[in-house]
Amino acid sequence: MTTRAPAVEARQLIKTYPGDVTALSGMDVTVEQGTVFGLLGPNGAGKSTTVKILTTLARPDSGTAAVAGHDVLRHPDLVRRAIGVVAQSSGADPVATGRENLQLQARLHGLRGSSLNARVDELLERFDLADAAGRQVKGYSGGMRRRLDVALGLVHRPEVLFLDEPTTGLDPEARTAMWDEIARLAGDEGLTILLTTHHLEEADRLAERIAIVDRGRVVVEGTPDALKGELRGDAVHMELRETVGEAGRTLLRGALGSLPGVHEVLFDGRRVSVRADDGAAAMPALLGALERAGVAVATATVARPSLDDVYLRYAGRRYSEVEAESVDGLVLAGGVR
Ligand SMILES: Nc1ncnc2c1ncn2[C@@H]1O[C@H](COP(=O)(O)OP(=O)(O)O)[C@@H](O)[C@H]1O
Ligand SMILES: [Mg+2]
Repeated sequence: MTTRAPAVEARQLIKTYPGDVTALSGMDVTVEQGTVFGLLGPNGAGKSTTVKILTTLARPDSGTAAVAGHDVLRHPDLVRRAIGVVAQSSGADPVATGRENLQLQARLHGLRGSSLNARVDELLERFDLADAAGRQVKGYSGGMRRRLDVALGLVHRPEVLFLDEPTTGLDPEARTAMWDEIARLAGDEGLTILLTTHHLEEADRLAERIAIVDRGRVVVEGTPDALKGELRGDAVHMELRETVGEAGRTLLRGALGSLPGVHEVLFDGRRVSVRADDGAAAMPALLGALERAGVAVATATVARPSLDDVYLRYAGRRYSEVEAESVDGLVLAGGVR
């Protein structure tokens, strides 16, 4: 077996922004060649900052990173030649046509004449933009714009493609189409793809390996199945009618955790989650224990472990709630962005 150098290798990246904002606090990422790797995390976790450093658009305060075998700080030009980048916000010129955008990009990469035109036609065809090629990009749908963004990133046939939130803002149909396209790129062309996402389902579907990012570092890394498999048994979620104080929580942790086949007891607001070898079998005992403790239950559900459960286990908070908070944060900060 030959060992090939990873396509992306970042070690202990630290990055702070003015105003004492810690964007990265020791970020480690390794992506093997020819694989799809997902950086999954809520808004503000540090995903885009990581992509910016790996694509030479930002410098870390400390730490090292190599992409396609080149150090990002010492040989940024070699890195740039080897990579394609699809940024979180579109880089296409809205008043130019799809074809003009691709032609400009191809020229920037040194293509000329018939090879330039052939490559542009190939990409327009490939991304289902041939009919819209002569129209201004500002009239494109969200899905068409995103497909054009990916096409722009591929003009020079990169080895490694960075996709920063490739489907954020797309409607479900366009999102599914983009998923198929990304899977096709990875499969047919042997590209290495590093994508970032805040959609649990997207990471689950597309990435062979994922790293869950929280507060600027990786909290856990592995294949989606392995991460879910580490959480033994089922998740049982019980929504209480009222929040329980710290003393009550300690009592309930003991009472629920000592039931047979019940492993972990986690509180998150009014929600109590436990892991159980067999969720359905444990349910009567769980509800009985809560009743004896005088705690009223609004709803109870049993679920196979999901990436949301993985996140809760390693980040200590529920993904959906962190997302909701950070979206509020973005709205509040909207004026200064
Ligand atoms: N140019 C910047 N100036 C100041 N703070 C920034 C800048 N870019 C990002 N940040 C902050 O760094 C943190 C990480 O941001 P980012 O890498 O964009 O996260 P993500 O892509 O996961 O949403 C956030 O707290 C964000 O507000
Ligand atoms: Mg981002």
